[in-house]
Parts: sequence; structure tokens; C-alpha cells
Amino acid sequence: MTTRQVLELSGISKVFASSGGLRSLIGGGGRPVSALKDLSLALGAGEILGVVGESGSGKSTLGNIILGLEQPTTGTMLVDGKAGQGLRRGDRLAFRRRVQMIFQDPSGSLNPRFTIGRTVEEPLVIHGLGDAAERRRRMLAALEEAELKPAEHFAERFPHELSGGQRQRVAIARAVILRPSILIADEPVSMLDVSVRAGILRLLRKLVSGHGMSLVFITHDLSLIGTMCDRVIIMYRGCVVESGEAKAVMRAPRHPYTRQLIDAVPVPDPDWEPPPLLLKPGSEETPETGCRFAPRCDLAFAPCRASMPALRPDPAGHAVACFHAETAGTAGRPRPIDDMMDLQR
Ligand SMILES: Nc1ncnc2c1ncn2[C@@H]1O[C@H](COP(=O)(O)OP(=O)(O)O)[C@@H](O)[C@H]1O
Ligand code: SF4
Ligand SMILES: [Mg+2]
Repeated sequence: MTTRQVLELSGISKVFASSGGLRSLIGGGGRPVSALKDLSLALGAGEILGVVGESGSGKSTLGNIILGLEQPTTGTMLVDGKAGQGLRRGDRLAFRRRVQMIFQDPSGSLNPRFTIGRTVEEPLVIHGLGDAAERRRRMLAALEEAELKPAEHFAERFPHELSGGQRQRVAIARAVILRPSILIADEPVSMLDVSVRAGILRLLRKLVSGHGMSLVFITHDLSLIGTMCDRVIIMYRGCVVESGEAKAVMRAPRHPYTRQLIDAVPVPDPDWEPPPLLLKPGSEETPETGCRFAPRCDLAFAPCRASMPALRPDPAGHAVACFHAETAGTAGRPRPIDDMMDLQR
């Protein structure tokens, strides 16, 4: 049986005119930034796709393009088989309903002057769905689903009266009340206390599978991938360097960058020491030609600087963009990365 694709990105690139920040504010310009480079991916119905990479690798830009907040410089995007460009206002609103976002910082994404009830109900108002009684019923049901009980009690409260974890549950209720096809969660637990993270991730998984939604789960934390995601893409400076079934990639990473990332995840072993950072002279560069990872790669050889390695899948769908992929299998001792965050507990 073939899975229905809810999202298809093809050849997406995004170039920002300048690197933003202080320099552009004071008129200093700056070089164009290639935030995404020729990125293609497909997301199946009900699938959870992890998007991993260090800061600046283009994860949020990818999320913003899927959400429609940014336009790609080149490339095409289909959501539920349809393109979002050139739609009339009504159709555009319906298109936007299909993709909803959960941000990293729940405090920043909730209006401090709105009650929780108004916040969760607001998307229904914006999209003109239901009368007042229907909207209230759906709002209370969404709070219940997000395990904020009793819902009537939470609906009357304000964001500052809630804990960080409860605020993120409100943001989740607000995002799923429209029953989108695709949910994007950009680092949804990284600003929360460790003690509440597992509960939020469990809730996300429950809602995604309960409503048949697909989830794009953006994180820099590899320890969450094996238990949370079906598939994963590893991004480096705007390019997908490795992708495949999440557990397979975590157990047997093939790209040197993925291996560096996995080696840097702490393991619960008193003898474990973090590997030294591989920061060679010039390692901050992003070469215009050849493999973008070459300045940081121990395995780099002449072909790596001449052309960009293509992302090549094996028959099982595990794809790697590296000229050395055949020799870059797992090295060193096996790591219990799948056990690091047991969501079943
Ligand atoms: N609005 C913007 N203007 C200019 N540069 C940007 C903008 N947004 C992101 N960038 C740049 O694009 C690159 C990717 O950023 P981002 O998508 O935020 O990465 P990540 O979420 O992985 O940290 C970075 O170099 C960042 O500085
Ligand atoms: S293509 Fe070359 S430089 Fe790039 S990751 Fe592979 S071995 Fe390293
Ligand atoms: Mg980001």
C-alpha cells in the first residue's frame, strides 16, 4: 500500500538578501545567505518526520516555508497535492488551515492579555468556523485533549498563571483545533523543564496519531529522534546530508556529520567524555562548490572539493550525500541512543 503524501517539496532553495541581525539594521548590508539549497522531501499522511541540524542549518526556514511565512527563492511545494501560490483569499485561508505551527517558546506565542479560552478559540474565529456555542464546545474539547483539566477552569485563566509546560499544552490545543493535515513543531520542548518534556512529547504523539495528522518535528536534540520519529532528515548548512528511517539512521549513521552529532550526545555512562570539538581553521566556512561539510570533515579528499555529493538512497531508503558513504559506517562502540528518552515510561 502506498502512503498518501501530504507534503511534497521539490528543489527548494532560499536565499536571504543579507545575513540579517545588527549589521543589516545599521545598513551594513552583508553577503546573501543561502539558507536552503535544492531541498526535496515528501511527508506521508500520519508520518512523524524529524528535522535535525545545528543552529543555522536552515531548520526554521524550512518550517516557515511549509507554513507559508516565507516564500522559497526557487522550487515548488504541494500540500495535499495542491500548490499554495496564486490562490484567491478564501482559498488561501483554507490552504493555510492545513498547516499549523507550535513554536519553541510558549510564552512568546500566547497573547498575555487573552484568556486561555480566547487564545484556543481564536483560530476558529479567524477561519469563520462555527457559531459561538460551537466554538466554545470545540475549545473546551481541545483543552481536554491537551490534558488541561478541568477545561472550564483553564479556559478562564491567563498565560502568566500557568507553568511553562501548561502553556505549551495551550499552544498545542490552539494548533490542533483546526485539525490540520500537517503540524510543525519547532524545538517544542527545548525551553521547558526536563521533568515536563516527556509528557509534552507523549501528548504530541497521541494527538498526531489520534487525528491522523503528520508532524514535522524540528530539533537539535538527537536523543529524541529514535523514539519520537518515523523518519529523519539531517541538515547541514541548508542541505539534507542524510535521511531515512529514524531508528536506522540513529543506529548506523553514514554521513560524517551525523556521526559527529551522535558522538556528541551525552550517554548515561560515568566514563563517557564528550569528544573534542572538531573546529579546524576554516571550519566555519561554507564552500560555494563541493561538499559544504568539507572544511569540517576528516574524510575529505579531492572529489569533495570539486562537486557536491548527491543524496543517494539505498534500497531501504536510507540516503546519504557523501562520496565516502560506503566507508563511513558506524565506528566505535554502540551507543544506547534509542534508550535515552523512553516515552513509554
Ligand atoms: N530573515 C532572515 N534574514 C536573513 N538571514 C536569515 C533570516 N532567517 C534566517 N536567516 C539565516 O539563514 C540561515 C538558516 O537559519 P535558520 O533557518 O533560522 O536555521 P536554524 O533554525 O537551523 O537555526 C542562518 O544563516 C540564518 O542567519
Ligand atoms: S563528501 Fe567528502 S567532505 Fe563531504 S562529508 Fe563526505 S567525505 Fe566529507
Ligand atoms: Mg531555528
